[in-house]
Amino acid sequence: MNPTLTLNGEVVDVSSADLHQSLLDFLRHSGRTGTKMGCNEGDCGACTILVLEKDGPPRAINSCLALMGSLVGRSIVTSEGLAKADGTLHPVQQVMVEKLGSQCGYCTPGFICSMAEATARGTQSDPAAVADQLCGNLCRCTGYRPIRESLLEAPTTPLPTSAASESASLPDYHQPTSIEQALALKATLPDAPFIAGATELAVLINKRHSRYPALISLEKVSELQQLTATETHWHLGAGVPLTD
Ligand code: FES
Ligand code: FES
Repeated sequence: MNPTLTLNGEVVDVSSADLHQSLLDFLRHSGRTGTKMGCNEGDCGACTILVLEKDGPPRAINSCLALMGSLVGRSIVTSEGLAKADGTLHPVQQVMVEKLGSQCGYCTPGFICSMAEATARGTQSDPAAVADQLCGNLCRCTGYRPIRESLLEAPTTPLPTSAASESASLPDYHQPTSIEQALALKATLPDAPFIAGATELAVLINKRHSRYPALISLEKVSELQQLTATETHWHLGAGVPLTD
């Protein structure tokens, strides 16, 4: 079995991906240039894409910080995959056209994916939530008013959940499922850093060209995914996504 991911509904073999390659780099070097690169360090949102979840609405993430190893077996939707096959635009695309929410268009695919996350969650009709939703996307020519107004007017639009798909892992990208396994791997691979959201490590990889013999992902370590409340405290596992 080869490492694969599902991209806009199509299973794509990613065995050629390098351990240090981001999804953004993979997309653009395979000719899928709808997703844009601005900063390549998680600040501008031009590279935003959607990761479909098994049991809930999708998450919008910065593909410049998402290493390929973390995405094998997942379902991804880019701005190119939001319109229907007959060309009917996704409602957020349509409303951005009508409200003139795009000028040069460089930021637009990223905005569209962030907006589609909001309409899939049904959180698009509150101005404060819209400002928060779009704070990770920068636009340098249209201005934010028509973009925010577009999202406020867009209807709730669920996106499909991800179908389970079998995939091999990328070589040297280890995915332990418990703290015990993670520590055992670290003992045998002392030069392999732990990786979770990669908001720092991927910047070092992209900008300083840091390279590692292997990576130990903490995303599947169940103890780090727990989010519980007591009378007086919240307990947040270090791997709990911010949106949770
Ligand atoms: Fe700027 Fe990814 S390219 S956040
Ligand atoms: Fe040009 Fe946003 S439309 S940067």
